Amino acid sequence: MRTGIRPTGGCSAAARILLALLIPSAVLLATAVWAAGTHGIAVDDGPPAVWGTPLGRMADPEREQAMAELGRQLFFETRLSANDCMSCATCHRPELALTDGQATAVGIYGDRQPRNTPTLTNIAYAASLTWLDAGVELLEDQARLPLFNTEPPEMGLTSEAQVVDKLKQDKKYQAMFARAFPEQSKPLTLETILQSLAAFERTLVSYQSPFDRYVYQGDHEALSDSAKRGMQLFYSRRLGCVTCHHSWNFSAPLRTDLEPDTEATFHDTGLDVTEFAASQNGFKTPTLRNIAVTAPYMHDGRFKTLAEVITHYEQGGGEGVNKSGLLRQFSLTDKQRTDLIDFLNHLTDKQFIERMIKSDPEPDRLLPEHCSP
Ligand code: HEC
Ligand code: HEC
Repeated sequence: MRTGIRPTGGCSAAARILLALLIPSAVLLATAVWAAGTHGIAVDDGPPAVWGTPLGRMADPEREQAMAELGRQLFFETRLSANDCMSCATCHRPELALTDGQATAVGIYGDRQPRNTPTLTNIAYAASLTWLDAGVELLEDQARLPLFNTEPPEMGLTSEAQVVDKLKQDKKYQAMFARAFPEQSKPLTLETILQSLAAFERTLVSYQSPFDRYVYQGDHEALSDSAKRGMQLFYSRRLGCVTCHHSWNFSAPLRTDLEPDTEATFHDTGLDVTEFAASQNGFKTPTLRNIAVTAPYMHDGRFKTLAEVITHYEQGGGEGVNKSGLLRQFSLTDKQRTDLIDFLNHLTDKQFIERMIKSDPEPDRLLPEHCSP
């Protein structure tokens, strides 16, 4: 039981919580210094060592930092889109824990995307990327999708040169690419753009929510009484949330140095009424960290509030043909529903969101006139 809070067969909720509390603070102290350092923000102890290290981290921290710093600039860079209007952060907005507040995303030409913009909270640990594609495992590969997608277009690029030529004209980027990729004679390429974005994304680690303070730092005041009751409900067999929202990340299984071969899993909570239903097994279980700020919910953004999501689960999920057998019907009193929502609200990491907001190198940038507001 590596994560401390993964439920096992006969283990009661109380015992599980107790186990989690017993994780010694020495472990915390031994934790490697993390992402914060790359943003000019005070360095702290980083995430608990029991979380493991996501795959893809580099042996050379200085090199990694140079790439992550470059990736941070690129994440907010509108020249990554065909018309200079859109960056990754247009959809993955810092103040919304890297979501966009819309049911489904909108590309540079106004095309509605088929799916909701997921948070990138702790994305480096994910065993698979995107809502339903088991084949996208590397952040480097994923970043190619929004840049070049055509059906419908997101950032609208049609060639490597289109973006490389623009960035080459900027002395700042010339210097940053040379620093991050010193061994390459032509350091500014699509490949190095993707590698830098991925290095930045591996710093998007959220580990300072009240839940974390309660579980890892023994701060009993970090959760309200109502949130503590909600936590009991969340971990209860009756509700079964944790059968899919696993581990410390409340998400689909994770892939780390401790468990490098974890298989991706997908579940349909009965919402998939599209043509996908027959061909695939549903959607990735998203993390519930920062869930209070990432509405609307589900792959198609159909639920505006957490109360709506919970009502969906109380009914045993929706009607989709591939509905998971792990869903169970249950009923909550109004007070219990409030408790459960209160627990979910305590998964919000204000420091993470603050860090994301401060990551924007140019928050007051003016977009070209042709960009619609
Ligand atoms: C037009 C809005 C939009 C833009 C711009 C955008 N994304 Fe996304 N992003 C999405 C949507 C929507 C999804 C879900 C796609 C799917 O599952 O089909 C997503 C998914 C992701 C995922 C996978 C998350 C997960 O939980 O599996 C990552 C990582 C990601 N985006 C990173 C980026 C990066 C890096 C950029 C910039 C190069 C970027 N995104 C630009 C909307 C956007
Ligand atoms: C069968 C596995 C499973 C169980 C059990 C389950 N979930 Fe989920 N959960 C998912 C999947 C898969 C999604 C994404 C579904 C979609 O988009 O269609 C999801 C989505 C969510 C979301 C929205 C996340 C977002 O970013 O949009 C919340 C909130 C949530 N679940 C909470 C819960 C709670 C609370 C419980 C227990 C009452 C629970 N889940 C039980 C698999 C599950």
